[in-house]
Amino acid sequence: MNKQETVMQTIDTLTIDYQHYLTTAEITAIEHEASIMETREAAGIEALKVVQDHRGWVSDESLFAISDLLGVPTAQLEGVATFYNLIYRQPVGQYVIHLCDSIACHLTGLDGVLSAIKQHLNIEYGQTTKDGKFTLLSNACLGSCDKAPAMMIGREHYQHLTPESAVEILQQLAAHGEADE
Ligand code: FES
Repeated sequence: MNKQETVMQTIDTLTIDYQHYLTTAEITAIEHEASIMETREAAGIEALKVVQDHRGWVSDESLFAISDLLGVPTAQLEGVATFYNLIYRQPVGQYVIHLCDSIACHLTGLDGVLSAIKQHLNIEYGQTTKDGKFTLLSNACLGSCDKAPAMMIGREHYQHLTPESAVEILQQLAAHGEADE
């Protein structure tokens, strides 16, 4: 058995009782997802989204608890979470910026937009601002190539970005976030 297999086997022997870790709302939502899937295994991605919606990200403990609830190996859930880049396995900011890093966006001014965002927020890719408001991540094509450059924050897609419009969007979100506090 190689090192990675050993780690995976160790992970799968750890368990967290979902009843002690997940909230009733989370359990209800996950059970609902499982009830409309052909198998409980197929509900894995939706279960990860449920926990992320409630907690902002998916910790190891959450992963173990979902595994316990669905009866799906933790390593399998980890694989799903890794593949699906909208599942966050580390704490993130209030707003997660997914900036498209694919070819059409590169050809239409991504570099300028990226520089403006980095300078405005004073962070690099993979980092979160000190106030916890923004995390900056690169993303593969967001499907808005004819309206590039593009980014996604939450469920909103922002297109035809310029350095100025990108910063303006972030300023508006920051102001909106403050109004919510
Ligand atoms: S290349 Fe950026 S949205 Fe498709």
